[in-house]
Amino acid sequence: MLVKQIVRRAFDATLLVESQILEISSVRGMSLAQQRGMLERFDAHGFVILRCLDLSDSYRDLLDLGRYFGNPAPHPRADDQGIVGINAFRYTAGFLGSTPAEHLMHTDGAFRDAPEKIITLQCVTPAATGGMTLLASAQAAYDHVARVFPGKVEVLSRADALTVTRTSQSSTQAVFTRCGEWRGIKFRMRDGAAEVTPHTDAQEAFEELCRFFQASENRLQFRLEAGDILIADNTAVVHGRTSFPPHEPRNMRRLNFDATGPACARLVFGFLPSVSSEAGPEAWLDR
Ligand SMILES: [Fe+2]
Repeated sequence: MLVKQIVRRAFDATLLVESQILEISSVRGMSLAQQRGMLERFDAHGFVILRCLDLSDSYRDLLDLGRYFGNPAPHPRADDQGIVGINAFRYTAGFLGSTPAEHLMHTDGAFRDAPEKIITLQCVTPAATGGMTLLASAQAAYDHVARVFPGKVEVLSRADALTVTRTSQSSTQAVFTRCGEWRGIKFRMRDGAAEVTPHTDAQEAFEELCRFFQASENRLQFRLEAGDILIADNTAVVHGRTSFPPHEPRNMRRLNFDATGPACARLVFGFLPSVSSEAGPEAWLDR
């Protein structure tokens, strides 16, 4: 039987972001080879950046990603197409996306029991200073916690490991979800907008996880340029943003998907740990 080779790999600050950038004219005009290039990059590290050169109808172009990734995910601030403006033009209480403040590392939809699987972010206007995009690998984080707390990382997989609350939304679930050998992540840390409460037994491991995601050597940092669209696996990649001066006209569009589109059946979601959850730091899985 022919089994698809799983190529997803962890990453850290040393990954060359250029390897994940695919230059295209527009989403609506992608060739078959470019579509393949997009999906291969997504599989490799859990994210891809489409560098779109034709900016004549970028709003429509972003919506066109639904042809691959399915239906837009709900959001309290979304317009009637599902797009959320990420800018500091008008403050909405409880939403860091409406401020120029630092946005600590998180996965989207952590307030919901069924978060979106695919996130996308289109840059309309970058900030001249600040507003850098941050990405980190959930696999690298899992492996780190498994090494620091041998035999205890699975406490983060208990169904009541973490409660995340914002305004009227709240969800209590595992940080590392399990599907056979595969894991997914659902993560938010205390950031001024979210109330985040780990289970008592999970507290130590959760705090180590937060430290890992805040360390610069574990995070890829880059600037999205006008026309760039970041597409990421929300179950394998954690994201954030550095602060920017309030006068900066930085403007992004967020559009997340439920991964029911035709391309998704062939895509890799989540990650395979490289360090055993059961044994000590020397027990690397053989692969
Ligand atoms: Fe986000």
